[in-house]
Amino acid sequence: MRLFLDTANLEQIKQGVKWGVSGVTTNPTLVAAEGIKDYKGLVKTICGIVPGEVSAEVTVEGVAAMVAQARDIASWHKNVVVKVPCTPDGFEATSQLAADGIRVNMTLCFSAGQALLAALCGAHFISPFIGRLDDVGQDGLDLLSGIVGVYNKGSFKTQVLAASVRHPIHVLKAAELGAHVATIPFKVLEQLTKHPLTEAGNARFLADWRRTSGS
Ligand code: E4P
Repeated sequence: MRLFLDTANLEQIKQGVKWGVSGVTTNPTLVAAEGIKDYKGLVKTICGIVPGEVSAEVTVEGVAAMVAQARDIASWHKNVVVKVPCTPDGFEATSQLAADGIRVNMTLCFSAGQALLAALCGAHFISPFIGRLDDVGQDGLDLLSGIVGVYNKGSFKTQVLAASVRHPIHVLKAAELGAHVATIPFKVLEQLTKHPLTEAGNARFLADWRRTSGS
């Protein structure tokens, strides 16, 4: 399973690449949180930092408007994947975009039925939001497992991108369940780099070495 960062913060992305991150997902909320007005400029800059896919989201409603904006977004860089919501219009827009070879990440997925439709419409990624389901008392990982099962049975090419990740256990369970990618906040990536026993053990090794070598 690959790891993407779910952020619009360039410093976090630069550090993430050094820790094995290969792509980025953005959304309007993340961009607003950074106070960024130039979305195109931001996405092009991110594409220069990460080796893999960078998701940028449509911000309009209606099939024609979504398709037109998605075509523009897809032209920003070869690594851009366009995020389109799992709505009736979103599925229709995705069918049109996929037919033209534009890669779509269908976002805001909360059911296996939506994931099945996304695959049939030719989406490149499906993004089940596991944390937001947990937040309302449903098991997000259960949805992820269901989607992986449906895709495996149907031999679909759409990749499962676990989104709305809240903690390291979500990441590891997503990998175990067979997600292709997990997109994670920087805080969760930082948590993955650390363990108190590693820190204590390393401090002890260094202290013992300094005593022995007299340095
Ligand atoms: C995914 O692409 C979304 O940007 C993201 O994972 C949403 O996560 P949230 O529920 O933490 O906002």
